[in-house]
Amino acid sequence: MTAPHAYDVVVVGSGAAGLTTALSLADRYRVVVLSKGGVSDGSTAWAQGGIAAVLEPGDTIDSHVEDTMVAGAGLNDRAAVTYVAEHAAGAIDRLADLGVPFNVGESVGERFHLTREGGHSHRRIAHVDDATGWAVQNALAKAAAAHPNITLAIGHAVVDLITERHVETTRFVGRACHGVYAFDVATKRVERFTGRAVVLATGGASRVYLFSTNPDGATGDGIAMAWRAGCRVSNMEFNQFHPTCLYHPKVKNFLITEAMRGEGGHLLLPNGERFMKRYDERLELAPRDIVARAIDAEIKRLGLSHVRLDMTHLGADFIVHHFPMIHARLLDLGIDCTRQSIPVVPAAHYTCGGVLVDLAGRTDLPGLYAVGEVSQSGLHGANRLASNSILECLVFGVAVADDIAHSWDALPEPPPTRAWDESRVTDSDEEVVVSHNWAEIRQFMWDYVGIVRTNKRLERAAHRIKTLRKEVHDYYGDFRVTPDLIELRNLVQVADLIVRSARRRHESRGLHYSLDYPATDPVPRDTILDPWSRD
Ligand code: FAD
Ligand code: SIN
Repeated sequence: MTAPHAYDVVVVGSGAAGLTTALSLADRYRVVVLSKGGVSDGSTAWAQGGIAAVLEPGDTIDSHVEDTMVAGAGLNDRAAVTYVAEHAAGAIDRLADLGVPFNVGESVGERFHLTREGGHSHRRIAHVDDATGWAVQNALAKAAAAHPNITLAIGHAVVDLITERHVETTRFVGRACHGVYAFDVATKRVERFTGRAVVLATGGASRVYLFSTNPDGATGDGIAMAWRAGCRVSNMEFNQFHPTCLYHPKVKNFLITEAMRGEGGHLLLPNGERFMKRYDERLELAPRDIVARAIDAEIKRLGLSHVRLDMTHLGADFIVHHFPMIHARLLDLGIDCTRQSIPVVPAAHYTCGGVLVDLAGRTDLPGLYAVGEVSQSGLHGANRLASNSILECLVFGVAVADDIAHSWDALPEPPPTRAWDESRVTDSDEEVVVSHNWAEIRQFMWDYVGIVRTNKRLERAAHRIKTLRKEVHDYYGDFRVTPDLIELRNLVQVADLIVRSARRRHESRGLHYSLDYPATDPVPRDTILDPWSRD
């Protein structure tokens, strides 16, 4: 039996959340960071618009808080929102210290050029051209790779958490998380990584939908693992659809940043009408839920495949200067956005719900933390405000590290645990089941649990999930794990949590819009699912 890889802290995920947490711990503790893909395969590297922070004279923390609460339709936890807004400028400073080359202001002495996005009442978005995420991910990954106390274990897909159920002892041990079982893609073996604390930083679940702006790995693994280990999850019905994903026959998940609308882009119908004026006085800069719903309504009303985002009136120099990456990528695809409007459609973009955590990122399971898109910290409410997500990773990453350090003496040394047992499984002889089930989930989630919902559609989705859950459960019980099977098992779990949450909300609020319950309740309440409860 191979011994576990023993560290002080195990971090699952190498995006902004995981790497911030690891770097904040590494001067005191030995940290392993696991990633199922390469170090930069998460959503962080794909972020375009930037990071929100109060940096402009005249802007205030209160204003950032209010904008976040308005976008979140009042469901946000004001304490979490205030905490994040107050720590935003410090987070930007830390990234600048790590070498992130934020664009500087156009007037002398202006430290940052700030762009604007929907729902923000001020210019507030610090950015690196239109490829902010790439710069942030690179800086964090470089710092982590250089730190002697951080081990980057790429190509390790975590299958499940090691909890008290896996402890090799007959005497009673209390509920706790002691590590993870991870499938090593190179050796195809499942190994143990143990530590006094485990941090889930596995990102969101938007690939549960057919059309998404996210990379392939956004399959909600951390949410599903935490649920299986007995943690509550919250607000899973709030799936954010970004209004403007490129509509293209070959490229399905290329985002067209909201900053394009922030800098003056217009959304148009085929007849040239700027239709947002019929939906919201903030026009193209209304919060995302409103813009995505408006596009969806126009597409359905007129039987269109897409609408168009027009930047041409801003001039070629302005477009190329502000959006060099998008301009170049579109040119490669035969679209010159300085002369033509861009075909766009809404696509699944962000998971507002997740593992329920407190202000220190603590989950229900002692020793287990969650940070970033995997978590539900109270920041986003019913709809995330643009560019508040990387910010959440940066601020909560530090909060989690601080809490681990403060609680260190109370966190138990990992006890002896059982190795992964493969004695009752064989290699699969029908991998096609995995790909078929995977495609089926994404299709019905798109059709039945999308931008506009009804009781009937949710019921249909619930019915399909019930059958698929059984099939995937049986398959998982019979065959050796593979990366695809690990993701499918998590996707079906997350789809179930989304549909169960959506069926519980008998109102429309933020991203959850139901034709059967169009009104908004006077008092906002979170949807909290508890794995220990029977309902
Ligand atoms: P991620 O960066 O997604 O990282 C997840 C990590 O977990 C990866 O390393 C992955 O390999 C690992 N992982 C997952 N499951 C497992 C497993 N089972 N085992 C091992 N490892 C695992 N937000 C903003 O604030 N501003 C923006 O401008 C912005 N633009 C965006 C543009 C696009 C196209 C997209 C997709 C998102 C954008 N967002 C933006 C959202 C933001 O990028 C993400 O919410 C944020 O980066 C999430 O960071 P994270 O660290 O939580 O997760
Ligand atoms: C974008 O650039 O439009 C994405 C910003 C975000 O998701 O916060």
